[in-house]
This record gives sequence, C-alpha cells and structure tokens, in this order.
Amino acid sequence: MSDITVWAPGRVNLIGDHTDYVGGLVLPMAVQLGTTVTAERDEDGPGPGRLVLRSDRLDGTVDVELPVVDAAGVEPAWGRYAAGVAQELGATVGLDGTIRSDLPIGGGLSSSASLEVAVALALGAEGTPLEIARLCQRAEAAATGVPCGIMDQLAVAAGVDGHALLIDCSTDEVTPVRVPDAAAVWVVDSGQPRELAGSEYPLRRAQAEAAAEIVGALPHASMADVEAIDDPVLRARARHVRTECDRVRAFAAAVAAEDLVRAGELMVESHRSLRDDYEVSTPVLDDLVEQLVATPGVHGARLTGAGFGGCVVALADRGIRLPGTRVRPTVGATVFWD
Ligand code: GLA
Repeated sequence: MSDITVWAPGRVNLIGDHTDYVGGLVLPMAVQLGTTVTAERDEDGPGPGRLVLRSDRLDGTVDVELPVVDAAGVEPAWGRYAAGVAQELGATVGLDGTIRSDLPIGGGLSSSASLEVAVALALGAEGTPLEIARLCQRAEAAATGVPCGIMDQLAVAAGVDGHALLIDCSTDEVTPVRVPDAAAVWVVDSGQPRELAGSEYPLRRAQAEAAAEIVGALPHASMADVEAIDDPVLRARARHVRTECDRVRAFAAAVAAEDLVRAGELMVESHRSLRDDYEVSTPVLDDLVEQLVATPGVHGARLTGAGFGGCVVALADRGIRLPGTRVRPTVGATVFWD
C-alpha cells in the first residue's frame, strides 16, 4: 500500500480554438486551478483491484473492477473519465481515493482533462507529457464518445511555469512562450454551462474534416482555395481554421514582443471568427466579450475552449480588477508520494 497525492492543472486557451483536431496551432496555458487526487494504491493486493473514487463536489462513488472494459457504461457519469483512463492504461492495481477540484465544471477550463491526467498519474502512468496526454485523449473518446483534439490534455500535462504553450498539432511540438510580467489573464465565467457531450462539437469537427478533403490541410490551404469552396458552411468553417492559425502565430509574436495591444486585437478577431464562421459562440458569451473589451485596461477578450457557453478569457494590464478569476501560467501535473 502506498499513499499518493497527485495534482493536475486546468488550462485556459489564449487563442487558437477548433484548430487542434485538424493539425492547426493552439496557444493554451496551464493555470493554478486544478484537480487533486489523494489515494491509496494497493500494489500488494492479491489480484486485480478496484478503482474507487469519491468527489468533493459531485455526487456518487465510482466503484469499478479492474481492468475496466466498458468505461462508457460507468455510473456516475463523471466517473467515466477516470474509468476511461484506467481502461486505456489496462490498470489492474487497485486505487481508492478522493478527488478535489477548484475548477469550474463545464466552464471551458478543461476540468475533464485535468481529472484524466491526475487519475492517470495516480494509477501509475509513466511516460513523457505527450504520451500521457495522448493516453488521456484516447480515454476521453472511449469514455464519452467525444472526438476531442490533443490541446487540453497536452496543456495540462506539459505546462511550464510563467509560460503559455505554442503547440503545433500537426507534429505535437510544444514551444513555451513567456507571458509578459505586465500582462494579467482573467477568466470570467459566463454562467452558461456547457458540456461537450451532446454539443455540436463532433459536427464541427466533421465539417472541418470535410472542408480539408476539398482543399487539403486547412492550416496550410491557400485563402483563394478556401474562398472557392462551394458549400457556404464548409467555406466558413475552413476560413475560421485557416485564419485562426495565422492569428495564433501573430499572437505568439506579439506576446514575445510584449505588445499587449496587438495581442488583444487578435483575441477579439478570434472571437468574431468563432462567432461568425465557426458558430460556436452564444449571445451570452458575445455580450460578456463586448463588456470586457469596453473595460479600461483590457486589451482583448474571447471565448475559450470549445464555446457553446463556459468561460471567457481576457488579456488585461496587471493591476486592474475584473469580476472573475485571475489565472496564472503554471507547471503541469505533479505526483507526491508519502
Ligand atoms: C475542447 C477540446 C479541444 C479543442 C477545443 C476547441 O476543449 O477538448 O481538443 O478542440 O475544444 O479548441
């Protein structure tokens, strides 16, 4: 038996949404809010053990036999993320513990990726941050059926203190980008909950893939080819991905040059593109972005993550106060053994 404590952060995406699953660019950062798993691992047990987990905020206890064979059928539903990880790992060593989280659930700060990475490490997963992230991405798809990209799990597993991560999702190469001292990143909850399961996320992914069938890899397609796509919906989806990748690159350069004004403009353009071309915003998110952008000291704001509700992210001068949570770029997941 050994006692372990594992912590994994959530993430906020500064720019580059709905680009990861088509090999585009993203720029998330791990934040100081996250998920803690405190558990006992039963390495000396006689045979395959059980995965038993309680949550400080969600009802029900997950209690499944290892190895897990049907994560998607586990109750309570929040336990599917943990069970999915155990299934992908083929875990057989029993784990009994408690999950605590200070991330808003369904807020677009990757509470599920944070839970997955924490559970993976608690179950003894080994490997590079990219390997852990890929395992958790597969777990999420197995558990919920949602074909998510790699951004959330990789941001959670590979966070670097004081930095956002420029990720090229065609190679999974991660380049840390320092967040300037003069900048503050705020997350403001719209109060409109969203869940990827049951959302139009899979439809958006299918539309982006259909557009890529016509013009080739969207991040590198020519704008002329994109504008020549016949179907107006596919054309708009392709236009978003293509222009968003340019914005991510320009944003990383602006942040490196400490040009917060330019970085903020790019965030606002990104929000418009997600609203008009990708149609993943909501009137509540649009209003919030508008209010934030009109606030002195705020350089830009946009929806963050999948959209359809959840949080808005704002880039502001350090020192001003906004009605939300200030998030700081922090390290990725960690394990402590007693
Ligand atoms: C969710 C998914 C990510 C990514 C974002 C949109 O957070 O899990 O893979 O696709 O939506 O950028």
